[in-house]
Formats: sequence, C-alpha cells, structure tokens
Amino acid sequence: MSKNLSLLSGRKGIKDNLFEKLSASDLSPETLKVLAKEYLIGEANLMGTASFYDFLKKENDAKKVHVCNGTACLLAGTQEQVKVDLGTQFKPEEIGEICCLGRCHENAAFQLDGKNYSGINGQDLQTVLAHKSLDTKDEYYVESVSKEAVLIQPFSGVAQYYDLFTELYTKPKATILTEIINANLRGRGGAGFPIGLKIEACKKALGHQKYIVCNADEGDPGSYTDRYLLEHQPHAVLFGMLVCGYLVGADTGILYIRAEYPESVDKIQQAIFEFEAWSELHPFDFSFKIIKGAGAYICGEETALLASIEGQRPEVRIRPPYPTEEGLFGYPTLVNNVETLANLHFILEKGATLYQTLGTKKSTGTKLICLDSFFNRPGVYEVEFGMPLSDIIQQLGQGFKHPVKALHIGGPLGGVVPESKWQDLTLDFESFYQSGFHLGHASILSIPEQFPMIKYLEHLFEFTANESCGKCFPCRLGSQRGKEMMQQAQAKKYKINRILLDDLLMTLEEGSLCGLGGALPIPVRNILDYFSEELTTYFKQH
Ligand SMILES: Cc1cc2nc3c(=O)[nH]c(=O)nc-3n(C[C@H](O)[C@H](O)[C@H](O)COP(=O)(O)O)c2cc1C
Ligand code: SF4
Repeated sequence: MSKNLSLLSGRKGIKDNLFEKLSASDLSPETLKVLAKEYLIGEANLMGTASFYDFLKKENDAKKVHVCNGTACLLAGTQEQVKVDLGTQFKPEEIGEICCLGRCHENAAFQLDGKNYSGINGQDLQTVLAHKSLDTKDEYYVESVSKEAVLIQPFSGVAQYYDLFTELYTKPKATILTEIINANLRGRGGAGFPIGLKIEACKKALGHQKYIVCNADEGDPGSYTDRYLLEHQPHAVLFGMLVCGYLVGADTGILYIRAEYPESVDKIQQAIFEFEAWSELHPFDFSFKIIKGAGAYICGEETALLASIEGQRPEVRIRPPYPTEEGLFGYPTLVNNVETLANLHFILEKGATLYQTLGTKKSTGTKLICLDSFFNRPGVYEVEFGMPLSDIIQQLGQGFKHPVKALHIGGPLGGVVPESKWQDLTLDFESFYQSGFHLGHASILSIPEQFPMIKYLEHLFEFTANESCGKCFPCRLGSQRGKEMMQQAQAKKYKINRILLDDLLMTLEEGSLCGLGGALPIPVRNILDYFSEELTTYFKQH
C-alpha cells in the first residue's frame, strides 16, 4: 500500500472520486493520462487498477450479456442451457460470465442491460428475449422465526423510523455506545468481531475527517441476505451508518455495493433520497454516497475495499494499522457489514437487555440465513443464533427437492458439512468452529448427491485462483496449483499425492495474508475428511 497514493486520491474528497471516474471512463491511454494528471497519480498505477476488475477489463468490452458462474447455479446445473438459449440471440463472444448474482433461490441467472434475471430457461427465455419483454419475479420465501424479529420487519415509515435518531441525538454518546457494547453485536461479515469495540476504537482515533463504510460487496457465491436487506430494509442499513457516524464523529457514509446487484444500488439510492428529504428538516450533518464495485470478490475484504474506493489496485493491506486508525484516504474509518449495521435500530430502540435474550451467550441476536433452490422453501430466514441446523433444514427449508450429500455453509471459505453432521450443529459461531467448520456469513448451499466432490474441489481452487488479489504467493500460486491437481486427477492420467496436497494446504493456511488463501483449506479439508471414500480413486495409494 502506498500512503501517498491514498492521500493523493483523497485530496479531492469522496465526492470527486477517482475510482468512479475510472469506472465511467473509456480507459484509453489519453483518458488515463488526464486522470493521472488530475490526481497526481502515475498512469501505470491507474492501469494497474483498471486491469484488475472484470467489468473494466478491455477483453470484456464486447460482452453484452453475463451468465452467472456462481456456486449455486453450478450445483443446480442450469447454466449450460442458459448459454445455449442466449446463444440464439447473442454471438459467443458477446456472452461473458459474472460471479454470483444472488439469485441462488432459483438459478439460471444472468445479467442483461444492467438488470438481473433468473428462473427462466428454455422456451420461456427465448420467448421473453424475442419480445424484449424481460421481467423477472425474483420471489423467495422471507420469514423471521425469532421470538423478536430484529431484521425482517415491516417498515414504519421514514419519519417514524428516524425519530429514534432524533431521540438518541439528545443522549450522551457514551450511553449509546455502552448499549451497543452490552448487546455484544458481532460482525456478520464473517469474522464475528464486536462492532461496539470497533466503534470505540474509531471514536478514540484522531482525525479531522472520519468515514463510515458499509461493506455491501456480498461476494460469497450462494449468499443473498445482504441483497435482501439492501433492497427490502434499506433504511435499517442507513440508520446503522448514521448512528455510527454520530458516535465516531464522521459526517460521511459510503456504501460500497457490488455491481452485480444493480437493483440494490437503485433501492439504496431511493432510500438515500428519502433520508435526505427527512434530514433537511433536522440539524444533522451526515451524507451518504454509493460507490459501485466493478466485479472483484476480493473487494469484500475490508482493506482491499478501501483501496478500491481510493482507485488503487485492490490488494489486501497488512494490518495493523487497522482501518479504525488509518482507513480510507488515511483517515479513521469504520467498516462494517450490511447486516451488522442493520441490527442497530432494534438494539437502540428495544435495548441491549432484550437483544441479549436472543441467540446464545456468545453469539447474541439473530442471523439471516439463505437457502438455495434445492430446498423446498428457498429464501431468506431470520433465525436466532443457536437454532439446530436440522430444524433449519426440515422446518424452514422443508427438506430438499433432490437428494443432497453435504451443505456448504458460509461461502467459499466456509465449511462443507456432510449429512452425518447435520444433527450435531447449531447455527452459531462456536458450534461451527468447535466442529471444524466456519459459519462465515451463513449462506447455505446444497451439494447434490450426484455432484462429484473432485469437481467441487476444482471449483473451490478455481474460484480462489480467479479472485486472488495476487499480493502473496501462497494464495496466488497455491490456488492455481491446487486447481491443476484437481483437473489433472479428473483427466485420469494423474493421481494426487496426498502429502503434496497437505503441504499445499498448510502453506496456504499459514502463509496467506488474508482469509481468501488462508481459509480455503477449511472446506477443502472438510471434503477430504468426509468424502475420502468417494475421492479414493483420484489419490495415489501409499
Ligand atoms: C476474502 C474475503 C472476502 C470478504 N468478503 C466480505 C463481504 O463480501 N462482505 C463483508 O461484509 N465482509 C467481507 N469480508 C470481511 C471483511 O474483511 C470485514 O471483516 C467486514 O467487512 C467487517 O464487518 P463486520 O465486522 O460487520 O463483519 C471478507 C473477508 C475476506 C478475507
Ligand atoms: S491470501 Fe490471496 S487474496 Fe489474500 S492477500 Fe494473499 S493473494 Fe491476496
């Protein structure tokens, strides 16, 4: 990371943003020259940024339609047909790929003209394409089964909703912060770090400028709970950012929303307009800004996300310093996940004591989970932490449409839980950790009986190889070598040497700078441990 580049990029403030200008430009050498001069940043740096993102790469310029290559669509086996169907209207070079549109509840997903579609295939798709009347229903089950609904709630209206903030504004900041700390609200983006402690650190940090950043990059294939909140509970997210801004002394909130979610961008923009209309009548100085991603999974990692907003190549940065001390443009920055922020309204309205009665002692509150299309009732559910996994499968999902041999829970870096373990787990950080899994963001993907685990291993390594930021070699090279091993083993000429594979996994785990390379061994080892019989034929026998 270059501190100088961060400062130079931040000179013009967030409103005149380099990354936005790069994303909107033609990226020609002339344009880069002009931008480089404007921001006093080298042209090579700008080229380094532009060449990183799927949506900005020159080689993707000709693509007119993008087919989802996320895990849920892969497991459902819908995408080859989607490509065939789209091929009747588009040339092969016009059909690109995109990683997870969050339509895991019905699959067959693709993006066209900045809109997402799913659940239409075959003749139906041809008909809608031919009539240019593409409309998609995007319907899924939405239900809270918590004794107190925290996140899935009817909206009370802008004025009534933000009344709570007017009330909080009259209270000492320390009182509000204590309530949040007492609630023990842990980060929902994967790491589970308490938000109260982060707010406290950012509040204490010195800086004439501070930022609140909402991590709305939800890149985990299979996850669409943040998408639900952004599109259906947008004010809960904005409210959380507003309160955090008040507590740490920040006047700007930035929502980094992945470009794969165009509908989320629109819904949040609409909610920002509503907030602005309300705040005009009140003496608060807080503004929101949306920054749209450009197709890179690693931008969900908080330091890469900040580098992305700065218009730098989104490579993961070494911590410390943590963003709360030195974040966006070098200023103290609070980065939190969509769902974490969305909890704050409930906590501050109803109190930490009530919040603590939900969930377990160490994992307080509720969690949104999402079920894929293999379940009879796919959708987004709010559950209290500690709910038995088997109840989630049977009571909420109502079982499966087809036989399933494992669940991949918590995104590509989460655990692969075989059927034999479903009875043992409860949905909370501790239960998953103690059993060798990882809860992550708690998306639930089904691996059907007939899907070969060797192919799934290949998919996991390939995903990491495609999405690695390239900063450290265990991940950059290791993911590629792992992918090759799995591919060669399927070509039948080659048997995997388990000692070599274990060595590779240890190198990834111990030598990677961030969770992408570092946590990949979790699902890989789960599969090796629980599906050894299925995989025997691919391994050298010692
Ligand atoms: C490879 C990688 C990808 C990540 N992707 C996301 C993401 O898409 N959304 C998110 O909120 N956090 C993601 N995180 C976690 C963030 O780095 C960070 O911990 C989080 O935004 C902090 O917010 P929280 O404390 O509210 O969870 C990712 C982490 C890693 C290592
Ligand atoms: S582990 Fe991978 S994604 Fe993370 S910093 Fe290293 S190269 Fe980048």
